[in-house]
Amino acid sequence: MFGKLAKIFGVKEKLLEPLALGEYLKVDIHSHFIPGIDDGSPDMETTLELLRGIESMGYKKVITTPHVMSDYYRNSSDTIKKGRDDVREAIAKAGIKLEIDCAAEYNLDSEFQPKIKAKDLLTFGDNYVLFELPFISEPPNLSEAIFEMQLAGYKPVLAHPERYAFWHMDFEKYQTMVDKSVLMQLNINSLTGHYSPQVKKIAQKLIANNMISFFGSDCHHAGHINLMHQASRQEVVHQILKDNKLMNQSLL
Ligand SMILES: [Fe+2]
Repeated sequence: MFGKLAKIFGVKEKLLEPLALGEYLKVDIHSHFIPGIDDGSPDMETTLELLRGIESMGYKKVITTPHVMSDYYRNSSDTIKKGRDDVREAIAKAGIKLEIDCAAEYNLDSEFQPKIKAKDLLTFGDNYVLFELPFISEPPNLSEAIFEMQLAGYKPVLAHPERYAFWHMDFEKYQTMVDKSVLMQLNINSLTGHYSPQVKKIAQKLIANNMISFFGSDCHHAGHINLMHQASRQEVVHQILKDNKLMNQSLL
């Protein structure tokens, strides 16, 4: 899309030399590497291939985050931890040096709030919880769920805020998240235009407004690894990584 517009308007997006993302970020906090339990890696062989790709970018640690979604991916804390142990065993045999941990990407659906009350959420770092919204509309219980998480001592991290189209015309909503002390995790690949040109635009605006605390790969398959190499040529990515404005490294 950008390519087409660039041709029409004669604008050229500046691309820099690729940069080893992991050498700056060290830790990836959003991915789908546990085989066969969500729409990410289907088997251990694929997981190993993806993790080799992540390792080659200079990452040291991966906190993988399978979907927990009542309609589609009914994963429990126990199934996810068991999957993490299997991945650890497989990478040790394969000679991959990454540290592997797990949390989850919780969908804010009807089964999420009972999990908060039961204190049954997988966390990373300083009690952070990665959660996502449905893509259709803002859920009516959003504020309540954030409040309940914070009351229970969790620190909510909103996954890929730039991908929620229902907020694109209402940038104030992002400020509301910041005001509620919700941290935000941007998908690196949003900056390539992979999801849509509008997602890319909002991603750039969130960065420009210093609203992003974490970068994540949200890697599901090899295509996402290739896109990360493209993203690493973006000027905005070079800038934010060299300014050391993100919190990924603090999770090492
Ligand atoms: Fe994800």
